[in-house]
Amino acid sequence: MAILDGKLVAEKIQEDVRLEVEQLKVGKGVVPGLAVIMAGDDPASRSYVSSKNRLAEKLGIRSELIKFPATATTDEIARVIDEKNGDPLTHAILVQMPLPQPIDPWQVIDRIDPGKDVDAFHPANQGLILQNRGIIFPCTPLGVLRILDHYGIETAGMNAVVVGRSFLVGKPLAAMLTNRHATVTLCHSRTQGLPAILREAGLVVAAVGKPGFVTVDMVKPGAVLIDVGINHIDKEPDFEKFCPRSLHDTFKKKGSVITGDIHYQAFAKAAHYTPVPGGVGPLTVTMLMHNTVDLCKRSISVTNDKK
Ligand SMILES: NC(=O)c1ccc[n+]([C@@H]2O[C@H](COP(=O)([O-])OP(=O)(O)OC[C@H]3O[C@@H](n4cnc5c(N)ncnc54)[C@H](OP(=O)(O)O)[C@@H]3O)[C@@H](O)[C@H]2O)c1
Repeated sequence: MAILDGKLVAEKIQEDVRLEVEQLKVGKGVVPGLAVIMAGDDPASRSYVSSKNRLAEKLGIRSELIKFPATATTDEIARVIDEKNGDPLTHAILVQMPLPQPIDPWQVIDRIDPGKDVDAFHPANQGLILQNRGIIFPCTPLGVLRILDHYGIETAGMNAVVVGRSFLVGKPLAAMLTNRHATVTLCHSRTQGLPAILREAGLVVAAVGKPGFVTVDMVKPGAVLIDVGINHIDKEPDFEKFCPRSLHDTFKKKGSVITGDIHYQAFAKAAHYTPVPGGVGPLTVTMLMHNTVDLCKRSISVTNDKK
């Protein structure tokens, strides 16, 4: 079993992004600009947003955080999106999900200019991915593919099982793997006989949000395991159930640890696996920066084409 080191892959991509930002600044006089819109004060969202802003700053990307109270309306968010759609210094717009109720997330997503849709949540971008004409790709699925590429794992002809069908992760990833000639089964909470389906998989991607969901008995020997799940474990019985003893000191010290959707005991059976933390997570925020630069470069070439 070999670890697929997401942190290492992310650092390599970050260096490429930093160089591209530098070239855009020097060569074109353009600084890629990312606008992050957040409503409410959800602690997890706050932490994601601040790590996005920190990384943007580190790579030389101009990032702006626009914060709304939890009482914000769909119209208020839409107005600021309209403003950023028309702002030539903003190349990428991200709306941090989930939005507090009763804000309508679909109205908000539909409002983003597809050419500035850094998360690729807009139906135009997701439709293009389905048609294998994708321009911009959601950060987490893109990160998963970049890990596989880095380690030379070929997906063509592979039997891939994706568990979780969200439009952020599972659905676009299933389409992207299909486009790369994998034979994909997309599973969800109504899937019947999931353990048997998983046992046939050469590649398993778990994006469920349930600790230790994929257990050792569900994994085929030699499979590649990609764990997207992020689960906070802060209770001793959960720790005993889902985490290895080697983390016990950390758990005691911090009061919590993060674990994925694939039970750690399954890793011993795998050919390759992504750990949690240090697997897919570092790629998600990194691909956001990659997409911001990509959208910036596209906007420059569109502007030049119009001249
Ligand atoms: N590492 C990263 O950077 C990153 C990025 C994004 C998300 N995440 C994490 O990935 C996980 C999934 O995120 P998400 O946004 O995709 O979650 P989500 O929108 O809550 O979707 C969860 C999916 O899991 C399925 N599911 C739930 N229970 C199941 C069961 N018993 N059997 C089979 N499928 C089941 C659901 O099925 P139904 O559709 O039938 O309800 C749903 O499709 C979360 O832990 C999240 O924190 C990590």
